[in-house]
Amino acid sequence: MHLLTTAIITAAAAAAACQPDVLVDDFRARTPDMYRQQPLVVNGVATGCETNTGFNGCNKTLNLLGGDFGDSYVAEVLSIGKLELTAGSDESSNWETASHPGTVATQNYWFTKFNWINDFDLTPYTGFAVDFIAPEGSDFNITLTQWLPATNTRGIDSQYRLLSSYVKPNGNAQTLLMKFTDFAKNLNGDAFDMKHLKDVTFVNFGPLGTKFTFTKMTLIGDCGSSTTSGGASTTGSGAAATTTAKGSSAVGLTGVWALFSAILFV
Ligand SMILES: *[C@@H]1O[C@H](CO)[C@@H](O)[C@H](O)[C@H]1NC(C)=O
Ligand SMILES: *[C@@H]1O[C@H](CO)[C@@H](O)[C@H](O)[C@H]1NC(C)=O
Repeated sequence: MHLLTTAIITAAAAAAACQPDVLVDDFRARTPDMYRQQPLVVNGVATGCETNTGFNGCNKTLNLLGGDFGDSYVAEVLSIGKLELTAGSDESSNWETASHPGTVATQNYWFTKFNWINDFDLTPYTGFAVDFIAPEGSDFNITLTQWLPATNTRGIDSQYRLLSSYVKPNGNAQTLLMKFTDFAKNLNGDAFDMKHLKDVTFVNFGPLGTKFTFTKMTLIGDCGSSTTSGGASTTGSGAAATTTAKGSSAVGLTGVWALFSAILFV
């Protein structure tokens, strides 16, 4: 019985230690609860409601995790199964320069958060996968933005990496798999604090007028999965992945509870 109990506890601990992949969005039809009105309140302080930037103005479109998308000089069109972004530009502007020292000027950007507040713990995850279609020769930079919870402000962005350093767009369905270890340093060379992520931002979509289509976004855990091997996956399997992730964690909790009940009973 002692051996059995040990085995059960070990198995339960191993199950709990593994972070499954989590579907961020497959651009399914939005339901009314997938919108949220600004302003965002952070630690009791209301942020501004910017009417001319961000997707849907003050009425923010949320992803499946309740985080919002935002953009500047990127036209967004969301339809069932895809989000299309068209690169615009504003060469006269360069926003929040203190957060990205030494980079080329920001002409446009798009971001996604993974929760509603500006503070997400990325440490259980190993990467972010994005299924996309973009024409040959197009590109954008990828960065993680830093949240400083103590001051409710933005810190220094992670180092920038080009999409093409992972996968060169070729006009077909492809998968970007960015590994968070590649973003461990910020632009000043200091450690990026993965416990306090603001969002994942894509910067300088180009060339001007290029259309980028996103069909699925997934936070990659550390259980090992087919997504990490790359390759395009379908919207259908994405929807299934959410169900599986939620279902398996619920089953996992029930399972662990049942096992502990069994131990007590024995
Ligand atoms: C938010 O925007 C969506 C999409 O346009 C719309 O269906 C919804 O009614 C809006 N909600 C509010 C409260 O304006
Ligand atoms: C991407 O970022 C790197 C590093 O800051 C920079 O050298 C490069 O010019 C950038 N490319 C674009 C398209 O912004």
